Amino acid sequence: MSNTEQTLSIIKPDAVERNLQDEIKKNFVENGFNIKDEKKIHISKNEAEEFYKVHQSKPFYPELCSYLSSGPIIVMILERQNAILENRKLMGATDPAKADEGTLRKKYGISIDKNSVHGSDSLDNAKKEIDFFFNS
Ligand code: CDP
Ligand code: MG
Repeated sequence: MSNTEQTLSIIKPDAVERNLQDEIKKNFVENGFNIKDEKKIHISKNEAEEFYKVHQSKPFYPELCSYLSSGPIIVMILERQNAILENRKLMGATDPAKADEGTLRKKYGISIDKNSVHGSDSLDNAKKEIDFFFNS
């Protein structure tokens, strides 16, 4: 009975700008994730607004959408057992200042907005987010 899942990961503009994508991908592979598909893209503000729609009532929404569309990003489908939870653990807390030692956001994040990586937070959202970037 395997529990293989897929989750959506994004290497955000701050990390791509610092050329950290290979190092971050190595973290995923070393932690048992299979990178099933990936692409480098530069999305529009409208696309970012659509992607982060769940946050539209939040005060940080406009800046969040400007930021995600501010430069190239790497979107990836990651696969492993319990991929969604395991990726959230590997990423660490949203605010790099509060993230545990060894997590991606602790290692690479600059600030709560420039926190280097995104990861789906549930099976349902993982399906929607993979669809958003890969099945359109
Ligand atoms: O990314 P994560 O699921 O950990 O956090 P979220 O609560 O779903 O928020 C989405 C993204 O909004 C975060 O990754 C941050 O980049 C950004 N954010 C922010 O800029 N300021 C906040 N106070 C909270 C989140
Ligand atoms: Mg989230």
